[in-house]
Amino acid sequence: MISTRELTKDFVVSRTETVHAVRGISLDVEPGELVAVLGPNGAGKTTTLRMLTTLIAPTSGTAKVAGYDVSTDPGQVRRQIGYVGQGNGAGHSQRVRDELYGQGVIYGLDSRSAKRRSEELLESLELGELARRKVSELSGGQRRRLDVAMGLVHAPGLLFLDEPSTGLDPQNRANLWDHILRMREQYSMTIVLTTHYLDEADSMAERVVVVDHGEVIADDTADALKAKLAGDQLLLTVAPGNLARAAELTEQLLGARDVVAQGDQISVRVANGPEALPELIGAAQRTGVPVAAAQVIRPTLDDVFLNLTGRSLREADANGKAAA
Ligand SMILES: Nc1ncnc2c1ncn2[C@@H]1O[C@H](COP(=O)(O)OP(=O)(O)OP(=O)(O)O)[C@@H](O)[C@H]1O
Ligand SMILES: [Mg+2]
Repeated sequence: MISTRELTKDFVVSRTETVHAVRGISLDVEPGELVAVLGPNGAGKTTTLRMLTTLIAPTSGTAKVAGYDVSTDPGQVRRQIGYVGQGNGAGHSQRVRDELYGQGVIYGLDSRSAKRRSEELLESLELGELARRKVSELSGGQRRRLDVAMGLVHAPGLLFLDEPSTGLDPQNRANLWDHILRMREQYSMTIVLTTHYLDEADSMAERVVVVDHGEVIADDTADALKAKLAGDQLLLTVAPGNLARAAELTEQLLGARDVVAQGDQISVRVANGPEALPELIGAAQRTGVPVAAAQVIRPTLDDVFLNLTGRSLREADANGKAAA
């Protein structure tokens, strides 16, 4: 469905400054996949999506989308896709229902289907009560829901969503996901989305592409990334005065890394927490170290990013925002 080779975008900002926004991304997406692109502010996510949706031309490299080359056949590409940009800001003085219906018609739906699809979307994105409001009067979150509805109205085979859930409250995030997953099922849609919500990428996408400084630095299922690149964390709380001995035992665990002893607690990373924990408790018992509590903490995608880059995704985002 998507195939890019060495896709690159440089922005020439001034005579002395060029931003290398995307540096040679090669990516393949199969029909029906749901791919989440993750990365800190300024990583190149939006720029990549904008090239794939033909809104900007690549500096070099190639991209085929739905069978067509984005550089030589942009019109064909556009006909196959839906795109919800980051902070799109649909329309102005139109009413919500008309805006959505109009979008459906522009995308080639007949009047009846356009009406039916808009009503479905108004309901599932909780826009029903707002249907007669002017677009310009909506709140940020309401407007975001309308943006998403606009991208979904013609049920495209390939959908690009740039931070669809940013700014939505938890209830509406859940509704949006319900809708996306249902649409995907119903129309066998392929979906590529960006998000800053790690939990979302983790639970919804079966594939996570991590981008940093314009490059893909990891690409796999969330589970595989976590197992390969982060590992489980064990937390062991011991009775006072036993910390040093407990730390020694922890260091001896197979594959133990990042051992940190603090207060009455030891933290360690291992490949397989549920296997390592009984081993550690057993060793403590044999050597007479009293264990007060023990716990396995499964890694998050943030741990994956931390491991790949030495930065936390949250910190990286905060820094990106501060710099922007
Ligand atoms: N039109 C432009 N002109 C100059 N630089 C640009 C332009 N568009 C993007 N950039 C730069 O390219 C880099 C990548 O930006 P991009 O918007 O793709 O990041 P992103 O991963 O989508 O970030 P965010 O999470 O903040 O949305 C940034 O350094 C940005 O400042
Ligand atoms: Mg972006």
